[in-house]
Amino acid sequence: MSTGSAPGGRATSAPLMGRDPEPTLFELSSPGRTAANFRATGVPEWSAEELVPAGALRDEPTPVAEVSERDLVAHMTRLSHRQFSVDLGAYPLGSCTMKYNPKLCDDAVARAGLADVHPASPPALTQGWMALLADLEDALCRITGMAAATLQPPAGAAGELTGLLLMRAFHGAGGQGGRRRRVLIPDSAHGTNPASVTLGGYEVTQVPSDARGCVDLDALAARLDDDVAGIMLTNPNTLGLFEEDIVAIAGAVHEVGGLLYYDGANLNAILGVTRPGDMGFDIVHMNLHKTFAVPHGGGGPGAGPVAVTDRLAPYLPGPRPVRTAEGPSGGGDAYEWAYPEHSIGRAHSWHGNALALARAWSYILANGGDGLARVSQAAVLNANWLRHRLRGTYDIPYDRPCMHELVASATNLKRARGLRALDVAKRMLEEGFHAPTTYFPLVVEEALMIEPTETESPQTLAAMADALIRIAAGTGDDAHAAPRTSPVGRVDEARAARQLIPTWDARPT
Ligand SMILES: Cc1ncc(COP(=O)(O)O)c(C=O)c1O
Repeated sequence: MSTGSAPGGRATSAPLMGRDPEPTLFELSSPGRTAANFRATGVPEWSAEELVPAGALRDEPTPVAEVSERDLVAHMTRLSHRQFSVDLGAYPLGSCTMKYNPKLCDDAVARAGLADVHPASPPALTQGWMALLADLEDALCRITGMAAATLQPPAGAAGELTGLLLMRAFHGAGGQGGRRRRVLIPDSAHGTNPASVTLGGYEVTQVPSDARGCVDLDALAARLDDDVAGIMLTNPNTLGLFEEDIVAIAGAVHEVGGLLYYDGANLNAILGVTRPGDMGFDIVHMNLHKTFAVPHGGGGPGAGPVAVTDRLAPYLPGPRPVRTAEGPSGGGDAYEWAYPEHSIGRAHSWHGNALALARAWSYILANGGDGLARVSQAAVLNANWLRHRLRGTYDIPYDRPCMHELVASATNLKRARGLRALDVAKRMLEEGFHAPTTYFPLVVEEALMIEPTETESPQTLAAMADALIRIAAGTGDDAHAAPRTSPVGRVDEARAARQLIPTWDARPT
């Protein structure tokens, strides 16, 4: 039984949410303690010397922390309490949304039949997995109005690059690879869009937004020519507004031979209501880790499948799970791995982040088509409810019905009382909410991008609005020191990003 205290008299019962640095597991270590508890199996024990060639053996044992199960669990639990998480409270981070993820999806992917399968297992042993992936491809195509998909890309940005390489392959096959060198992007676009265009070997041409916060059609027309490979758009755009002229935009881009790329990071606003394919898009990536229950960002591996229309399907990455006529015993479908005819190759090792894909599939099945439509409807309703509550307190630069997120501005507060978007965000942590996205999109000064998501109750939404209104009534002087109640106070963000020290030196000083 552990005594609950580490060598050197260090207590392991540090107060939750304290500001002292948490001891590392190595500092809690004590020789001989162990968190493992194996029963004797009767299998003879082999020594390291009998199993490993002498030349490959270490001189010293690997230094591992030796702690009891009790101390290990307490340590991990304390760490988990030192940060805000979707399981703790509302997380209105716009655009890069962290949605509450149903526990059902955790449960589904923890099953041994999914979790314990090696990706190199032969197709004869993985028909169930392949059926799941093929069914997911079909569902994503139905949801987006596309013909075929790849599940390989591991994130939205990876999906973007894959989509641009598909664009390049398509134009190259049409003998226009050299001529088509520009990709158009609106000025409200997410930063990954221009980065992906550059990585994909194209030049970025920016298109300004108009007074409604949408693509300026005249400016678009002035930039369209036969050297345009395509346009990248997200709809709703990053101002949370629906591009109402999307059909005209699609017509104009197709007219000059360009393709339309849909950044699907905002797909959670339109599920079951409209589809990128119906709007005229040719290539779509989806952030499954936003729309379909996979944790986003630091929360876990993502998935950014790409779906395309018929004419781009031959270029998709491979291998893909393909249905053959009949199962081996003559009944049902059977599957094999195959590369599309003119495939651009792999976008990721094996079959992508397979468990993230299975998780998304469980979310889609659990909701069904009508449930997915309700997800989007509730997300849009919640964002508009919040927009109404904040109106008059915060500037709302484009104050018309929004989709799943709203973009407010702290410009009025900065002018009146020195309160900036950053101060509002840090004060939200003190109020028990995660901060909204700040300073994005770049076209809005002192931007606060708030995505309440579909899962928050009216009570939570009201509490969030009350907190934002309470914060706005304060001054910058009050708020500059925020957050004062979290384990880490306000950090110098540039220094924290540039001089991050993610290692710990185990040698005694
Ligand atoms: C509009 C938009 N596009 C692209 C991305 C990139 O996605 P990822 O972070 O998965 O690379 C994001 C991030 O959430 C986004 O909000």
